[in-house]
Amino acid sequence: MSRILHGLAVQAEILSRLKPRIQKLSRRPGLAVVLVGHNPASEIYVRSKIRVCAELGIFDETIRPPETATTEELLAIVDGLNRRPDIDAIMVQMPLPKHVDTRRVLEAVAADKDADGFHPTNVGYLVAGRRAPRACTPAGIIELLKHYKLPMAGQHAVVLGRSDIVGKPMALMLLQENATVTIGHSRSKNLPEMCRQADLLVAAIGRAAFVTEEYIKPGATVIDVGIHRVTDAGQAARLGRADEFASQGKIVVGDVHPLDLARVAGAYTPVPGGVGPLTIAMLMANAVELAERHLCSA
Ligand code: GUN
Repeated sequence: MSRILHGLAVQAEILSRLKPRIQKLSRRPGLAVVLVGHNPASEIYVRSKIRVCAELGIFDETIRPPETATTEELLAIVDGLNRRPDIDAIMVQMPLPKHVDTRRVLEAVAADKDADGFHPTNVGYLVAGRRAPRACTPAGIIELLKHYKLPMAGQHAVVLGRSDIVGKPMALMLLQENATVTIGHSRSKNLPEMCRQADLLVAAIGRAAFVTEEYIKPGATVIDVGIHRVTDAGQAARLGRADEFASQGKIVVGDVHPLDLARVAGAYTPVPGGVGPLTIAMLMANAVELAERHLCSA
């Protein structure tokens, strides 16, 4: 029987550890989110974030520039937030529209208000093993593995995907936990064979049900970062979710084939309900940590 790793349980634990820290502060931590346009996935994420902020007593402000906003307009918004003393943490929701210079906007967020850990200064701190805001999804995965007491030290971890948001910081965080880390990506040779060596496989490749049985060592821990809507009945049936499709007209799957995952892995995160709730929890953790720093150095 494989073990299911529930993100919501770990989210609840992380949030309950944050509550007393928030109560000790002389004012509420402030988190600003810049959400450009109307990307449906981003809207869902931002709605959950607003709910969790309210639950924790974090002041939260969402700024919603239109899809047509220019790089210069976004830089001006970020600059305004950098200057506000009531805002401790700023998150610019990705992806930004194609015409926007994403790198300039992300680098404009002050490193000491960087809720996402995306600023090069904070990425550098991660490489150097120093305390700083860290990318939320991989940081949440480390918390999940610790919560379930799944070993990292000495384990062979394969991270599938090399994005700045998940793959690269995930590899660095696992290395910091003394795992032996391999990064696999679209140009790697023999991906299934490489992944089959993994005691711990993190799938963040961005393709629905791409990782199948031949990628998974029996008994391995598999963390599925993907989240994809499937709206084709045939595909839903092949993924073992015909009933769910019939009642809802869609299903949500990750980067790993759900039937193979449940059959071959020793422990795994389901989609939905696995990694998703952890990203929000770690966003809150970063915001609280930044507020603590601002208030104790004020
Ligand atoms: N889009 C998908 N994941 C993330 C994230 O962790 N942070 C931001 N800012 N945008 C995202």
